Amino acid sequence: MAAVSLLVSALLLLSPAAAELQRVQHAPKDDGSLTVLAVGDWGRGGQFNQTLVAEQMGVVGEKVSADFIISTGDNFYDDGLSGDNDTAFFKASFTDIYTADSLQKPWYIVLGNHDYTGDALAQQSAAIREVDSRWTSVNKSFIVEAEIVDFFLVDTSPFVLKYWNESKFDWRNVAPRDTYIANLVEDLEDALTESKATWKIVVGHHPISSGCEHGNTTELREHLLPVLKTHGVDMYLNGHDHCLQRISSVDSPVEFVTSGGGSKAWAGKFKPTSDKMEFLYDGQGFLSMHLTAAEANFVFYDVAGTVLHTWGLTKSAAAIIVS
Ligand SMILES: *[C@@H]1O[C@H](CO)[C@@H](O)[C@H](O)[C@H]1NC(C)=O
Ligand SMILES: *[C@@H]1O[C@H](CO)[C@@H](O)[C@H](O)[C@H]1NC(C)=O
Ligand SMILES: *[C@@H]1O[C@H](CO)[C@@H](O)[C@H](O)[C@H]1NC(C)=O
Ligand SMILES: *[C@@H]1O[C@H](CO)[C@@H](O)[C@H](O)[C@H]1NC(C)=O
Ligand SMILES: *[C@@H]1O[C@H](CO)[C@@H](O)[C@H](O)[C@H]1NC(C)=O
Repeated sequence: MAAVSLLVSALLLLSPAAAELQRVQHAPKDDGSLTVLAVGDWGRGGQFNQTLVAEQMGVVGEKVSADFIISTGDNFYDDGLSGDNDTAFFKASFTDIYTADSLQKPWYIVLGNHDYTGDALAQQSAAIREVDSRWTSVNKSFIVEAEIVDFFLVDTSPFVLKYWNESKFDWRNVAPRDTYIANLVEDLEDALTESKATWKIVVGHHPISSGCEHGNTTELREHLLPVLKTHGVDMYLNGHDHCLQRISSVDSPVEFVTSGGGSKAWAGKFKPTSDKMEFLYDGQGFLSMHLTAAEANFVFYDVAGTVLHTWGLTKSAAAIIVS
């Protein structure tokens, strides 16, 4: 056994692919709990009710005392930022919209496909962060460690094969696809293996399972889902579909949660999923999550701040790692 694991670590050391995902530490509250809001598919200069959703995020963020915000991607429509000098649009769609005191917290960012049809590197640039220091996009994939929970932010656009046939995508630092996704999956597996957090939540833009307009993403079911299942991931959180939904996996504890209601919604189109649909709302809104070592509670809110759906998960005492 020891010999085998020695051999495995030797191979890992030799592998040129083995990089480590960057990490950001975010301390939980003094009582060890953490409250996070999640919104996706939003940046439209306030249009399509982006402003109303933002206002209600501010109200709820105040009430629940949000520690930080996660964006599930498609941050700027239609074609991301055009460069790290595209600061006026950045301000008009982010800084000037999410103005509430309660939202003046770090925003941890993944990119969506719409961010990739502009300058996909601009959102990680120092110039953009200088405009608004909340903006935290340290790399296209990275980990937010908050003691009781680790959020693994994963860049999912490169997985989607059909995008590679389109000329608009900015694949700098990504191409070739196969190497990029193989390295990313390996880095994620390493990070999940090392993670000592009670809760493990993986965040990407594209859904693994969805009953809304776009439906499931075959490439993620193939490459990402097996990793989530074998490493005890509690939840996969995404945007892309402009709806709010919660789906249970039929053969694992992973829950699939979509928070993609940050602006334009009401697509009125649906796809079948063979997983178990627990809740689906085809309109605007956002998610809040409250985590402690023993419990995680989730709430979906609509554009008016009305509670649409709540649910909870618990950890058995045995599963809680006391550090
Ligand atoms: C914005 O929200 C209001 C409800 O507050 C709704 O009547 C309206 O249709 C929504 N607009 C869009 C573009 O979704
Ligand atoms: C950003 O810089 C490029 C190159 O100098 C220029 O072509 C473009 O118009 C600038 N964009 C903005 C929004 O200022
Ligand atoms: C950012 O991520 C890429 C690929 O995932 C990696 O090659 C690069 O080293 C990372 N950057 C840093 C500063 O770690
Ligand atoms: C990409 O384009 C090629 C050539 O037109 C086609 O054969 C292939 O099916 C396309 N792949 C996807 C995923 O759209
Ligand atoms: C994935 O989507 C396809 C097309 O909508 C659907 O037929 C299939 O049942 C879905 N698969 C799962 C596992 O949900």
